[in-house]
Amino acid sequence: MALLPILTAPDPRLKKKSLPVETVDADVRQLMDDMLETMYDAPGIGLAAPQVGALKRVIVLDIDREETKTGPLFMANPEIVEASDDDVIYEEGCLSVPDHYSDVARPENVRVRYLDRDGKQQELACEGLLATCVQHEIDHLDGVLFIDHISSLKRNMILRKLLKARKEKERDEAEGKPSAKDQAKDPEHAL
Ligand code: NI
Repeated sequence: MALLPILTAPDPRLKKKSLPVETVDADVRQLMDDMLETMYDAPGIGLAAPQVGALKRVIVLDIDREETKTGPLFMANPEIVEASDDDVIYEEGCLSVPDHYSDVARPENVRVRYLDRDGKQQELACEGLLATCVQHEIDHLDGVLFIDHISSLKRNMILRKLLKARKEKERDEAEGKPSAKDQAKDPEHAL
């Protein structure tokens, strides 16, 4: 397993549509395992392949690692096959949009169909944080970030701040200053 670098916005690769995987083979399983390790290290509760520069429809999730009963979820080609009419609002963050959070409304319950780590087709009814997280990660596969669900005014402000933070980090690195490791403050909000 290996830790992969996580892309941050604005990065054109985060805006691309990812392609379905044909089969869950050894390469895809390797990607899933590396993504899970990268997500735990970040730390976050969900990660999509384009966030590590792989434009494949693959996501990993683990919303309650501490008290986990189900273990991590690995999904290839996930698609929402049913969504509730009722929305729920959750304050979302994203490992690719570090240090910024916004309320986003999404369907409260969804049913997702996907191929698991063994390539077997599964369906899972998701509610609560898992439903929010699955929809956030599938958005990534279509080049959509949570900031695309908020006002353009707020989105542009966040993107400007991210660019500024990146430039400062690059300048510090060029000057040989030690840079603090990017840490999501609250993994519950790093989807
Ligand atoms: Ni995200």
